[in-house]
Amino acid sequence: MTTSDATGMESRELQEQFDAIIARNDRIEPRDWMPEGYRKTLVRQVAQHAHSEIIGMQPEGNWITRAPSLRRKAILLAKVQDEAGHGLYLYSACETLGASRGELTQKLLDGTQKYSSIFNYPTLSYADVGTIGWLVDGAAICNQVPLCRTSFGPYGRAMIRICKEESFHQRQGYELLMTMMRGTDEQRAMVQESVDRFWWPALMMFGPPDAESPNTAQSMAWGIKRNTNDDLRQRFVDMTVPQAEALGVTLPDPDLRWNDERGAHDFGQPDWDDFMQVVKGNGPCNAQRIAHRRKAHDDGAWVREAATAFAARTSEVAG
Ligand SMILES: [Fe+2]
Ligand SMILES: [Fe+2]
Repeated sequence: MTTSDATGMESRELQEQFDAIIARNDRIEPRDWMPEGYRKTLVRQVAQHAHSEIIGMQPEGNWITRAPSLRRKAILLAKVQDEAGHGLYLYSACETLGASRGELTQKLLDGTQKYSSIFNYPTLSYADVGTIGWLVDGAAICNQVPLCRTSFGPYGRAMIRICKEESFHQRQGYELLMTMMRGTDEQRAMVQESVDRFWWPALMMFGPPDAESPNTAQSMAWGIKRNTNDDLRQRFVDMTVPQAEALGVTLPDPDLRWNDERGAHDFGQPDWDDFMQVVKGNGPCNAQRIAHRRKAHDDGAWVREAATAFAARTSEVAG
């Protein structure tokens, strides 16, 4: 037997072991062998998710200094801080795949890795804090609950903790909107205006329609993704409609109605051309979000340098 035969057999065996783990819905762990495509897909997805948590701090962070009461300020501060934590768990999950946090941050800053397009829309009123909690964290939950069962162990475990916090975020958003809806006509109008702006971008958070999502099939075969984009979007709409009724807001979609036969809501399609424009970097806040993130990164350079020097010094002393 030649060496190349042996390697061929070994890699076939490894592939079979991997396939068996996936087939019995078990977890792949960082030390297990995995196909390079699986690893790359995960790095891309987990990094994009981590970046979204970090960039996602900006739209709401914009309102911290202008929160209408001490209570609202404390809630918002805690929520934005949670998002920073989510980013850190996810960067750590990504590091187990061999991609360092520094490297991933660089890719965010130079635009080679993306974050969710939802964070490229501006927050124009305090009602947006509530709408983001209700619709954006709500859509995130629909996307992320199935990811608790994703095939890569560290990602799935990070998602379990993140999902608990996301449902708290969603409820705080809903509670804020409910409070405003019980207030003055002006406050109710603020809520409606905010929901009108965020409804379609929230639907876009599930990604393009299945027919235009070429990577979905492979990601589902690998157990990285558990549901298709259209499935998740449907689930989100069905979950949100009764909540909108309870709030007393109108969702801005003339095609939205219950379909008895399907046992689900029919609804209109977002403007996918607009979505592609935002993905390509031409959304209302893309440039501002990245400029802000770059500045924060530069301003934090001394902290990274000090931490690195301290770690080197400590290991010298210990060594
Ligand atoms: Fe989050
Ligand atoms: Fe959140």
